[in-house]
Amino acid sequence: MADTMKVLLLAIYPRVQQKLRDLLRQIPGISIPDMSINNAEEAIDAVFHIKPDVVLLENDFPGMDGYYLAELIHKESPLTQVIVVSEVSSAEAVRMAMRAGACDYLNYKTLTVEELSAALSHAQSIIQEERTKRRAYGILDEEEKAPAKPTSTRRQRARIVTFYSPKGGAGTSTIMVNMAQALHDKGMKVLAVDASLQYGDIALLFNQFSNRTIANLANKIDDIDEQLVLDIVGKAGPDILAAPNDPAQAVQVTGPTFSKIINFVANMDYDIILINTSSYINDATFVALDVAEIIVLLVVQEIAAVRAARSFLSLMSELGLQVSRTEIVLNRYDPDAILTTAKISESLGRRVGFTLKSDYEMASRAANLGVPFMMEYKNYELSKQIIALGDYLVRRLAEIEPHQPELQQG
Ligand SMILES: Nc1ncnc2c1ncn2[C@@H]1O[C@H](COP(=O)(O)OP(=O)(O)OP(=O)(O)O)[C@@H](O)[C@H]1O
Ligand SMILES: [Mg+2]
Repeated sequence: MADTMKVLLLAIYPRVQQKLRDLLRQIPGISIPDMSINNAEEAIDAVFHIKPDVVLLENDFPGMDGYYLAELIHKESPLTQVIVVSEVSSAEAVRMAMRAGACDYLNYKTLTVEELSAALSHAQSIIQEERTKRRAYGILDEEEKAPAKPTSTRRQRARIVTFYSPKGGAGTSTIMVNMAQALHDKGMKVLAVDASLQYGDIALLFNQFSNRTIANLANKIDDIDEQLVLDIVGKAGPDILAAPNDPAQAVQVTGPTFSKIINFVANMDYDIILINTSSYINDATFVALDVAEIIVLLVVQEIAAVRAARSFLSLMSELGLQVSRTEIVLNRYDPDAILTTAKISESLGRRVGFTLKSDYEMASRAANLGVPFMMEYKNYELSKQIIALGDYLVRRLAEIEPHQPELQQG
């Protein structure tokens, strides 16, 4: 470890912040990165960039259950040790923190310099042990890795993320469209595909009206080539492969045809393909779920939506789809709602990873004008949360092996 120990403070309440800062200042060899962190997404981002040795995490963190945040911190930076600080000292709270991978649990009300110093030394010895183990297994730390090789000129296959909600109206299309815009703004080559074949509204949400839709590609599937695709996709920042204008044409896009289309465009010049789906699981929805490297599963704080999500997760297992590929996102989040993120996580048996704030005015204005709010209202909280979710998805994709699905046979 470097001579100084980097300690990231993730405490939201000013009095807790101040107390921890004052105590840390009395311990030699500590550096405290000075950052303004206001929510869970910013916290994860900071951990990713700083790779602190220790995070002092106040349990009561806005926008995300503190224990889940501890797990995510561990995913982003495996060597970082999390010390949970809380004013609750129940055995249950300590047990949950340990389960989430925290190395210590401190009560900040009664915390002394000696106690904090001992906890940091303990964290330091765990990091050293971990380093030794990792070396034995040939795993290198970031700083030991050779500089990244220049990227090969051969393009990688595009990564695929599917947006799905088993309950209609959860915001699947809205979040997908704004994510497409956010990733485009990040400089990525994005293709937004509408697999909600009967009443898909992706083109509408981008104010694109065209007779060229995925049905035209389906009709020429045996002669598909890049030029044909480029003639058909709409240009709205991200490229758009629209759903048919006439719901009756949806039948032309069979499962195997849709599978061929996705596999073809994945080998074109795109970095990422985002797929919008309808709640109803038909052949195209199934292909969209099967081909996805990450499935963004949208839920809202309604019992029916949570129940549907739970049924969907068990259906996934029955269909042989990897449940671990889903990222649960709670849309239209209301912190005062009775169904809390913790309750939803418990009911689903999987953690709610991200919450997206409810902003009816912005969402409906954007939908009615056909301009994603990501374009006009980038600095609004909901847009920032989508950008953070996008950053997270891109990082996750970099960690996971590209998925090479088999083509469905026609
Ligand atoms: N975070 C949000 N805050 C407020 N309103 C939202 C939010 N996300 C989506 N909405 C609104 O919720 C409604 C449903 O959104 P959307 O059409 O994107 O859902 P969907 O899941 O795609 O629905 P469908 O099942 O019809 O395809 C829209 O009016 C949209 O503007
Ligand atoms: Mg939709």
